[in-house]
Amino acid sequence: MQQTVDLVIHGGKVVSDQAVIEASIAIRGQTIVAIGSDDAMPPATERFDATGLHILPGAIDSHVHFRDPGYAHKEDWGTGSAAAACGGVTTVFDMPNTNPPTGTLDALALKLKNAAISHVDYGIHALLDEDNIDQLEALIDAGATSFKCFMGNTFGNLPAPSDGAILEGFEILARRGIRCTVHAENPSIMARRQARMETAGRADRHAHLAARPEVCEIEAIGRAIAFAEWTGARLHIAHHSAADSLYLLRDAKRRGVDVTAETCPQYLLLNTHDMTRLGSVLRVNPPIRDERHNAPLWDALVEGVLDMIATDHAPHAPDEKTRERIWNCDCGFPGVETQMPLMLTEISKGRATIMDYVRWSAVNPAKAWGLYGTKGVIAPGAHADFAMVDLAREAVIANEKLHSRSKLTPWNARPVKGVPIHTMVRGRFVMRDRELIATTRGWGQSVKPIQAMPAPRPRNTDKTMGAIVTAGGPHV
Ligand code: NCD
Ligand code: ZN
Repeated sequence: MQQTVDLVIHGGKVVSDQAVIEASIAIRGQTIVAIGSDDAMPPATERFDATGLHILPGAIDSHVHFRDPGYAHKEDWGTGSAAAACGGVTTVFDMPNTNPPTGTLDALALKLKNAAISHVDYGIHALLDEDNIDQLEALIDAGATSFKCFMGNTFGNLPAPSDGAILEGFEILARRGIRCTVHAENPSIMARRQARMETAGRADRHAHLAARPEVCEIEAIGRAIAFAEWTGARLHIAHHSAADSLYLLRDAKRRGVDVTAETCPQYLLLNTHDMTRLGSVLRVNPPIRDERHNAPLWDALVEGVLDMIATDHAPHAPDEKTRERIWNCDCGFPGVETQMPLMLTEISKGRATIMDYVRWSAVNPAKAWGLYGTKGVIAPGAHADFAMVDLAREAVIANEKLHSRSKLTPWNARPVKGVPIHTMVRGRFVMRDRELIATTRGWGQSVKPIQAMPAPRPRNTDKTMGAIVTAGGPHV
């Protein structure tokens, strides 16, 4: 007699990056224990009918700003994670440009404390900055899953660390096998161009793009890759926006550099025509570029040069987004709830397969952050994290329906086809029939890289800061 399980989900189509199969899923507690034909399932306390739905591994969003602590009028962990749950997102990685920034042990402890109300699971990107290089290891030991380095100025005005500090930080992270995300834009080019335009009186919507041309991204990605390759550090490029910098990723991957990259729906689907239409609502860093970038970014995803879809969910209050001069409008907009319908709409148009989508939304992020096996896959032993989607369901994105505290999105009024209907995190519905399950507040927990990360490959270890200050190396 087989042991009873808590739940069997039957009737759905289970999607991996390899296949779509009709199968039932048996869950005990928080974990999947079996997948197969329904008559092979163990007896269950509850059965759930998913007929007509595709069951995807829950999306993992590598880039959200839940603003808490410090900017709770924009978002907090309750509203941000509710938006995630209602977007089919079961794990988020939160960015460190909060107040205080997540660059000290105290700030990390505060972030983890505030995150405890989350509906979905979460990782915390700690800050790598000029002054905390000697704290990086302690931050890892205290639960930081990864780091973020702001190479260019963006919301929060965290100054870019010097190249010396970035390189030294990468040396340490290489030894620990921890991946560092970079916001890759060159700050001095941007500052100079913006200052010149401000002096000349330009403050229109297109001035933002003019201040941050593609070369800013090309230069910063090139520099970050050089440091990662030299040290053997794992690198992640946030919100890749330009066709012109893809060659750097392609070449670095070919050379064996462990670099992953995300792009966002806004860089795939929007361009300067939308900036003309929407103005400051669409102000974001890096900027929305002209139309010639859209198709190459999509092709790079299909090809695997870009690894994943993240959202850069960056909520702000309405008055902060709509000031007169473009320079005074905060950058970013919410996205964690709209990513899945937007991307599924493109899948339904035939631009890629649902298996490709699972690779971008779940498999590759899980691999990048050391979670694959527990997350990113529907298999025995993995967490029961699912987005159950209706690929035929049509809807229209509406600002007022968003669960984010920020109700201002460039996607307002956009029709979509393909929406998440139920979201499950470790065996519990956090959204059911399109409704948030309010009692799951606090169900989310911090992720731990469960699988030993593949052995890191530190390079030039005789030339690191550690080696030269203590051992007189390298040429003694
Ligand atoms: C982000 C924010 O508001 O925190 N803004 C943005 O324009 N992307 C910061 C960031 O990710 O650069
Ligand atoms: Zn950024």
